Amino acid sequence: MRTVRAPATSANLGSGFDVFGVALDRPADVIRVEKASRTTIEVTGVGSQYIPEDPEKNVVGAVAEALDAPAHIQIDKGVRPSSGLGSSAASAAGAALALNALYDRGYSRSELVPAAAEGEAVVSGEAHVDNVAPALLGGFTVAREDEVTTVDTDISLVACLPEIAISTRDARRVVPTRADMEDVVHTVGSAATLAVGMCRSDPELVGRGMDERLVTPARSELITGYENVRTAALDAGATGVTVSGAGPSVLAACYPDDRRQVAAAMVDGFDDAGVEARAYQTRVG
Ligand code: HSE
Repeated sequence: MRTVRAPATSANLGSGFDVFGVALDRPADVIRVEKASRTTIEVTGVGSQYIPEDPEKNVVGAVAEALDAPAHIQIDKGVRPSSGLGSSAASAAGAALALNALYDRGYSRSELVPAAAEGEAVVSGEAHVDNVAPALLGGFTVAREDEVTTVDTDISLVACLPEIAISTRDARRVVPTRADMEDVVHTVGSAATLAVGMCRSDPELVGRGMDERLVTPARSELITGYENVRTAALDAGATGVTVSGAGPSVLAACYPDDRRQVAAAMVDGFDDAGVEARAYQTRVG
């Protein structure tokens, strides 16, 4: 038997749509695997009632197949599904690591990224790696086609999860297919600023670099109370705010000492819009 803790992640960070990702030090899934002649899956924990246990429909079934590693796989969910916090990626990455160890396959963490991405394809229809890469490699990750680069960083974040569910498939449908050059130039500037901020562990640069006009405006419309929460977080000291992944979680960057007040302000911001929410005070892990 092997047991692995697999972290939540936040993709995009505003300006890095389908490119940037960070591993969060909480929440997390716990994955246990035992060798078996065919793959079976058992899911417990947060939102488990919405997750199929059929290996054809569950992310970890696809991972077990990609690694040719049949097993009984227990998933204890700490990362709520449809949260924008890389729930499926946490399970896929955890299963990839655990099965790799169980069957002594000898793959490096980087080599496991494509196998874990097969799981993502089951959920969103596309094998994008911006959540599975940080879940496996940690830190801040940049995915460019098949290449993933990673850097350790020390940035404090608050991820505020409202009682709203948005599927990645639905959130991808609202992404515009065309963009003005002016907005593209602005996004490149923000993305570069954010990347420098991560390398320097500078919350001001990371916060400013979250600003983006291509994808976030369309997606934020799906999140009741988003503008309230954004304003509340900035007033409480956040250096930048954006949609976490496909949403509905809202992600704020801040200084470590401001995390508590930013978290409280974001929960209040959702509450003012009539939406219950919980905030994770976290950091890049
Ligand atoms: N980059 C993806 C998206 C991540 O924003 O659609 C979702 O898991």
